[in-house]
Amino acid sequence: MTRKIILDSDPGIDDAMAILFAEANSTIDLMAITTVYGNAMIENATNNALFLKKKFNLKADIVKGASKPITKTPVGPTVIVHGETGFGDMLIPKQDEALIDSRPAYQYIIDMVKENPGEITLVAIGPLTNLALALKAAPEIVNLVKEVVIMGGAFGENGHRGNVTPYAEANIHDDPHVADAVFCAPWPVVIIGLDVTQQSFFSTDYLKSLCDQSNEVGEFMWQVNQYYLQFYSKKLNLDGCFVHDPSAIAYVINPDLFTLRKGAVRVVTEGPAEAMTIQKLDDIRYPHDEWSDMPSQQVGIAVKDTELLDLFRQDIIDYANNKV
Ligand code: RIB
Ligand code: CA
Repeated sequence: MTRKIILDSDPGIDDAMAILFAEANSTIDLMAITTVYGNAMIENATNNALFLKKKFNLKADIVKGASKPITKTPVGPTVIVHGETGFGDMLIPKQDEALIDSRPAYQYIIDMVKENPGEITLVAIGPLTNLALALKAAPEIVNLVKEVVIMGGAFGENGHRGNVTPYAEANIHDDPHVADAVFCAPWPVVIIGLDVTQQSFFSTDYLKSLCDQSNEVGEFMWQVNQYYLQFYSKKLNLDGCFVHDPSAIAYVINPDLFTLRKGAVRVVTEGPAEAMTIQKLDDIRYPHDEWSDMPSQQVGIAVKDTELLDLFRQDIIDYANNKV
């Protein structure tokens, strides 16, 4: 049986890799890409999603979402990592906007979840603004969603605490207040944060060899990654990149790749640790405990990285070669 997902994304170079991974895997039914600001302005993020739909003939609906955080002053697009328009230095032509669903992303999410009770997994790989807007407008969806899988946050496991501040990961830092609302809602959340995404690494050699074996899919991945790889090389002195957004898809395909830890999760919304994600472990009791009534969520703390990389490679190669 396939697993229906709505992929909430800010495309974004690693978002593009995640979208193609979801499309490639036969156990996933990629129903929609709902877009959100983050790596790029919402217009560019949506244009990039439309570009992928057309280029790779995706059946997924494309739905435009939030253009800015709900509470916080916008941080602005991550140009240094993802380029001016989100896809590095690739020139993406303006796409036909008639293909965009007429609803705002949050409404689309509500409608689809209600039409498919218990069946839809929401996978969010950008700021959590669309999910929070959906929750606010229709809190009852917490009982209708199968699972919420999020790439975001960092809990200090394996030494990973932040990538945009010493204590904040980018997706949570864009809109920390809504992230807190999403983690505190009584629906089942799995958080695939830097603790695990920075434990898997696409080396430049891995990407080159994958791209050589996967024709136009590989060619696109190689091209779009050039800017990203330059950022990693120049700013982090690494010959390759971390596996952020594709890790959330890997979790959906095979949860056994990850070790999870249970407990309530909160987000710091102000001060020098703004957007820091913290978890209280379920099995520890305290005399003073404001967390005791909070829903228990799951946080990824370890990953079988070699198996994850093998899964990604095989899915992309099979997909690319079945397309020709
Ligand atoms: O911190 C990594 C995350 O931030 C990824 O989702 C990447 O695409 C950026 O949005
Ligand atoms: Ca992203």
